[in-house]
Amino acid sequence: MQRVFSGIQPTGNLHLGNYLGAIRNWVRLQERFECLYCVVDMHAITVWQDPAELIASTRSVAAAVLAAGVDAERQILFNQSRVAGHAQLAWVFNCVARLGWLNRMTQFKEKAGKHRENASVGLYAYPNLMAADILLYKATHVPVGEDQKQHLELARDIAQKFNNDYGREIFPIVEPLILGPAARVMSLRDGTKKMSKSDPSDYSRINLVDDADTIALKIRKATSDAGVVPDTPQGLEGRPEAANLLGIYAALTDAELQDVCHGFAGSEWSRFKSQLADRAVAALSPIGAEVRRLLADPGHIDRVLADGAARAEAIAAPILAEVYDIVGFLNTPRRG
Ligand code: AMP
Ligand code: TRP
Repeated sequence: MQRVFSGIQPTGNLHLGNYLGAIRNWVRLQERFECLYCVVDMHAITVWQDPAELIASTRSVAAAVLAAGVDAERQILFNQSRVAGHAQLAWVFNCVARLGWLNRMTQFKEKAGKHRENASVGLYAYPNLMAADILLYKATHVPVGEDQKQHLELARDIAQKFNNDYGREIFPIVEPLILGPAARVMSLRDGTKKMSKSDPSDYSRINLVDDADTIALKIRKATSDAGVVPDTPQGLEGRPEAANLLGIYAALTDAELQDVCHGFAGSEWSRFKSQLADRAVAALSPIGAEVRRLLADPGHIDRVLADGAARAEAIAAPILAEVYDIVGFLNTPRRG
């Protein structure tokens, strides 16, 4: 069976963009693949994290993944730092990846900003750790958002160079899975900006733990425009807020954008928004309630993650041993 690996950072509250762009796809992929889902706490500390908050965020992201429907008994859900192989393979990859490759990474440039000299070495080497996450399990399919495509290409380059350098076809070539119409959910206040946990306005996003009244209020207050719902997606051109609201509706109902436009053609925003709010509440309220229920028992979440890590470790151990053997490290049982 083909293997899926994906990771999500344990930072802040998850929102509708994370759900439609990432977690919902994780739930759907478990029907078709063997899946490993990882809360990447080691990636998180590439920028400063308050230790107590990091623990809380790790649990709450794990709770959201479970609440959305990932079956942690059938699939593997764990936090990255529990499986030492991620760091071990990342070191080997630090020695495979070239400085020139990392220098091209746009996420580093964005995150480091003007003060590059002050960025952590970890932030720079971040894509090597991400390649290790995937290749430690020889995963073949990786669901990610558009923003992570460049990192995945780097993972392919690392796999290929390792295979070439050592003359062994050990690592598979990884395929990105960029799924669904909602690969990008935009801010409810400004349709040209991504919905993001770092936006200072809470009205820009719908959090997975917002209650029904809050969800409905945020949608009612969402920026729209002076027009009405057009009868085709072409009528959304140059109307980013309108396109976003209709796109969210389509994603939440698994419908085609053109069918949603057709169904609401000529409608005032107030009428459309009240329908959208109903759909959003129906999709998210049960998840929010389940997150709150799970977080009331952190011991349970910790046991789920520990159990997932033990099963991940069992897959990773022979692969890491194979890599160490190929590289020429004398600390593993050797064949010859
Ligand atoms: P982040 O919170 O940016 O670390 O993203 C975690 C996951 O959610 C990644 O897979 C992102 O691609 C996805 N994601 C984050 N924001 C959005 C958004 N506004 N629309 C769609 N997907 C998103
Ligand atoms: N870098 C990814 C993000 O920020 C998270 C991530 C870490 C990841 N390791 C991964 C995603 C491996 C897919 C596969 O969204």
